[in-house]
Amino acid sequence: MIPFSPPRIDQKVIDEVTAALQSGWITTGPRTKLFEKKITEYCGCKTTVAVNSWTMGMQVFLNWWGIKEGDEVILPAYTYCASANVIVHSGAKPVMVDINADDFNISVVAIRKAITPRTKAIIAVDLAGFPCDYDKINALVQEPAIKKLFQAGNDLQNQLGRILVISDAAHSFGATMNGKQTGSLTDVTTFSFHAVKNLTTAEGGAVCFNLPEGFDHDEIYKTFCTMILHGQNKDALAKTQKGNWRYDVEEPGFKCNMTDLQAAIGLVELDRYQENLDRRKAIFNQYDEAFKKHAWAITPLHTTDHKISCYHLYQLRIADITEAQRDSIMQVIFDQDVSVNVHFLPLPTLTAYKKRGYKMDDYPETWNKYHNEISLPVYFNLTDEQVKIVVAAVEKGVNKIKELRN
Ligand SMILES: Cc1ncc(COP(=O)(O)O)c(C=O)c1O
Repeated sequence: MIPFSPPRIDQKVIDEVTAALQSGWITTGPRTKLFEKKITEYCGCKTTVAVNSWTMGMQVFLNWWGIKEGDEVILPAYTYCASANVIVHSGAKPVMVDINADDFNISVVAIRKAITPRTKAIIAVDLAGFPCDYDKINALVQEPAIKKLFQAGNDLQNQLGRILVISDAAHSFGATMNGKQTGSLTDVTTFSFHAVKNLTTAEGGAVCFNLPEGFDHDEIYKTFCTMILHGQNKDALAKTQKGNWRYDVEEPGFKCNMTDLQAAIGLVELDRYQENLDRRKAIFNQYDEAFKKHAWAITPLHTTDHKISCYHLYQLRIADITEAQRDSIMQVIFDQDVSVNVHFLPLPTLTAYKKRGYKMDDYPETWNKYHNEISLPVYFNLTDEQVKIVVAAVEKGVNKIKELRN
């Protein structure tokens, strides 16, 4: 079976994790701090806090920013449930909008229509690793009429004086816009380092801060590190210093710090990230080349004159099929011992969001993209030979459905 997205675990990773274990320091410590520093350097953001998942990083962030009941946060209907769940847990209302016609990302036209005086933030999702239209989103929130509509709910929001722009960059570590890395394209960016992501720490994430001038990022770093550790003003490492045992808790915090065992994996992954990315790019090119001869294949947009994907997911679409036919094609592909996937079930198709009144019919472009989408395997260890097997399995699946239709 060709797996969909296995982690790249080799001797280097094993040695680094072993070294962390042998160091005697297994919770947040020097490796986590180094990992944060290296992410800040790589992304060109102002500071980074490593956490145990995208979800908890974003949850704590929304809490810190003061997002609460009565507020609205705009996000695309086409994303993983985590992007919306964190908004629900904050007490605010997720305001879902549709995506673009030519890619899988949030539509700026739709964002504009959804803005109200209650809008506090936009969570844009770099689906499959392709950055959103951040130049347009960042300009939109700066428009005088939009700024005038904005009502700050606390000092932080007042200091910003506009809607906050958040990147859900769970897929897009290493992608660029105008030559700048994700992590530095918006006010805040959250990465996921879950096992299936292109940079993994088994489970993990990072919050990259890039707020405008005037925000003290050293202070933000300190505050956020406290918030992810119960609100305790000293972490375990600081407490090991001689006589430095006393601490305080000024506000009840959360518990979602990254451990040094996770950071050990992340440091190896980061070190060889370009090599991994180059391989994924080569696989994308092979898929593009193989599918462009088929009239039924709609290949994903991954590069424009100013945006470059990090090639996380190859979202192939098959023209003129129904959702049920897509599922049948996937079954044929699985029968060829090839794992494929769908990214994602749109939020309005999920019971939790149907119950909350969201309707699939309100997001036609999301449905249009979802109903005929199949994500193909893309990862460092996928060989050229396996890419050919994947392509052949897809062709077989599509041909079978076409035969049944004729
Ligand atoms: C778009 C998107 N956002 C957020 C998440 C949540 O990431 P994590 O599992 O690290 O919390 C995922 C995970 O798959 C995702 O795909």
